[in-house]
Amino acid sequence: MGWWDSPTKRRLGPPYHHYHRLPMFPTLALLVAAPAPPTFAKDVAPILFTHCATCHRPGAIGPFPLTTFADARKRAKLIAAVTADKSMPPWKPEAGHGEFLDARTLTAGQVATLKAWADAGAPEGDPKDTPKLPAFKTGWQLGKPDIVLKMPKPFTVPAEGRDVYMHFVFPLDIKTEIYVRAVEVRPGNLKVAHHAVGILDGSGAARKKVDPKTGGYAGFGGPGFVPAGFTPGFVPGQTPRPFGDGCAITIKKGTDFVLQMHYHPTGKEEVDQTEVGLYLTKQKPTKHMLGVLMGTTDIDIPPGDANYVRTDKFVLPVDLKAGSVWAHMHLIGKECRLWAELPGGKEAKLLKIGDWDFNWQDTYAYKDPVILPKGTVLRAEWKFDNTAANPRNPNAPPKRVLNGENSTDEMGGIWLGGEVASEGDLVALLLANVGHYFEVESKKKTR
Ligand code: HEC
Repeated sequence: MGWWDSPTKRRLGPPYHHYHRLPMFPTLALLVAAPAPPTFAKDVAPILFTHCATCHRPGAIGPFPLTTFADARKRAKLIAAVTADKSMPPWKPEAGHGEFLDARTLTAGQVATLKAWADAGAPEGDPKDTPKLPAFKTGWQLGKPDIVLKMPKPFTVPAEGRDVYMHFVFPLDIKTEIYVRAVEVRPGNLKVAHHAVGILDGSGAARKKVDPKTGGYAGFGGPGFVPAGFTPGFVPGQTPRPFGDGCAITIKKGTDFVLQMHYHPTGKEEVDQTEVGLYLTKQKPTKHMLGVLMGTTDIDIPPGDANYVRTDKFVLPVDLKAGSVWAHMHLIGKECRLWAELPGGKEAKLLKIGDWDFNWQDTYAYKDPVILPKGTVLRAEWKFDNTAANPRNPNAPPKRVLNGENSTDEMGGIWLGGEVASEGDLVALLLANVGHYFEVESKKKTR
């Protein structure tokens, strides 16, 4: 007979029964159920410093800093709320519709940590554990530019009223064509500078519009001439990026650089004097950069319509290596999508913004270029909400809304930027896309 058959064992029962009665067990269970709450120093600061302080620090675009315990404690509940509803950090593309560089998203675990911290009363923990704030680069992010274009004089943004769109014209006075490998815009006043776009004018029309009083001219959405090209501008939170090996924007002699600035009044008069840095290369571009513009112009949204849908379709005449995507609607846009039906039946989801916000319009760069073979059908869709329940509706009560460039009109557009294999492909794509553009334009609705 072994010890396991001993009368003692039978009397006490198996050991695991015994453990239930040990006083230590319930204590352990309690520990498992209620771990020590997260602290600012150990758990919260690493999240805020990496994912929030880029914008929420003195001098950056966020309305308040989140760089110290005192800053964060005051707003613990709000931080938990805006991260749970995904309004912060601001990032519009939805998961599963394209994988993008520098995506500003938090993991479910990070969101849970911020909530647990707020629920526990926002404890600091040991300040010695607080990580160092990252060294944020000041000045030009890409180094000293080859050409600096600075607004000729400070522009005054009124305290109140509608958003202001201004165009500032810089004659480049170049003797030969130049190749631009990167563009960086440094907003002069982040309180009011909402976003900026660089537009190239080869027609000389823009410079004739300049009002010497302001050094620029006004106009919502459109610059008032047919652009010879665009350059990256500035949107909140965007990282300036060089175009990459072999890529550059060619600017021809006689071209003016037009900086379109979008200002948002803050309730206080503000001045801005923004600068643009152009980074040149001697190398003529060897890659052929071009994109596809899709859009809708037959917009006629009845008041009260919560789900007004427009679509567009474009068939690629050549192979396209898609590198980035940009979408555009105005105030009552609510959703936009771009997807591709590849030859052979596969589908590639390229972008979905489910909660359109006019204030956050970024160009999203794909982590890996998306290969779209010739014959691919690109499909775009825009949805609008013209009800009183839409808090972004500028009309109360809602009004009929048509296509147009004013903020109270609507637009639907998508630009899929990429690279084609040859000069011949470039011309073929350009011709097909310009043809498509005129077809879309011809459907424009008027009152
Ligand atoms: C790309 C820049 C950017 C990043 C990154 C960012 N914010 Fe913001 N945040 C803003 C701007 C601009 C506003 C004010 C305008 C707005 O609400 O869109 C704002 C507003 C807020 C507000 C106030 C919202 C309200 O309803 O009053 C909170 C709270 C906030 N951010 C928290 C965070 C937290 C927490 C993070 C990181 C997890 C974060 N933000 C990351 C730019 C940013």
